[in-house]
Amino acid sequence: MINTHQTSVFPPTVPPRLSQRTPASAAPRRGPGRAALRVLVGVVVFHLLLSLGGFYYLYTGRMVTITLSPRVSAERHPEECHPAMASMIVKPLPHRATDTTTEPQYLQWNMAHSKRCRVDYYQASWLKMKQAGYYYVYARVSFSRGGAPGQPLVSKVMLKHDETREPEDKMKAYCSLGNRSIGQCTASQGQLLHLEVGNLLSVWVENATWVDYEKHATTFGMYKL
Ligand SMILES: *[C@@H]1O[C@H](CO)[C@@H](O)[C@H](O)[C@H]1NC(C)=O
Ligand SMILES: *[C@@H]1O[C@H](CO)[C@@H](O)[C@H](O)[C@H]1NC(C)=O
Repeated sequence: MINTHQTSVFPPTVPPRLSQRTPASAAPRRGPGRAALRVLVGVVVFHLLLSLGGFYYLYTGRMVTITLSPRVSAERHPEECHPAMASMIVKPLPHRATDTTTEPQYLQWNMAHSKRCRVDYYQASWLKMKQAGYYYVYARVSFSRGGAPGQPLVSKVMLKHDETREPEDKMKAYCSLGNRSIGQCTASQGQLLHLEVGNLLSVWVENATWVDYEKHATTFGMYKL
């Protein structure tokens, strides 16, 4: 009975022994164990942060430097570009606007996609000078059809001294479809012009529906010398 009691009692006393051991001898061991665990967790977290930071730098570091670099911010904010210039992308006619008989046939420019630095614009057709000086001005107008057969096609760069003045011819170029009324021809022109602040330039054609609005076929631009 005693033996069985002892044996049956023994197992229950094992947990007390363990619990007795822990406060007596294992408690001082736990301290360094916890500290070591903390150090280990700290090292793991530190390495995790380091590698995350490394990946962040690898994948986004370049983008961060681009957004912070002054050159790109200058491109985003055209006012910060140094040489005044404009490189225009033509804006196709809306399909319904085939009969604009009384309207002056000034080409319109896609202001959102064109490049401009220190050159303003007015009414989607006119570039407005913000700096006086000599500018090389160019225009390339391609046509995909014409009027009466044999009639030459003309494009002109027009100048207005300011928004209230009448436009005047400044540059002219011609091309011909021969005796056909459908075909391709391009009138190119480039010239040095002295322009004042507030001067406006635009490209005029006889009939805007004859112009080739294909990408890169028709353009207009300038740069300050
Ligand atoms: C322009 O050309 C189109 C097609 O050739 C023609 O229908 C229209 O009358 C022309 N407009 C002018 C002002 O000549
Ligand atoms: C157009 O030109 C071709 C030769 O270049 C000629 O044979 C033809 O008769 C001309 N057509 C007209 C309508 O003038």
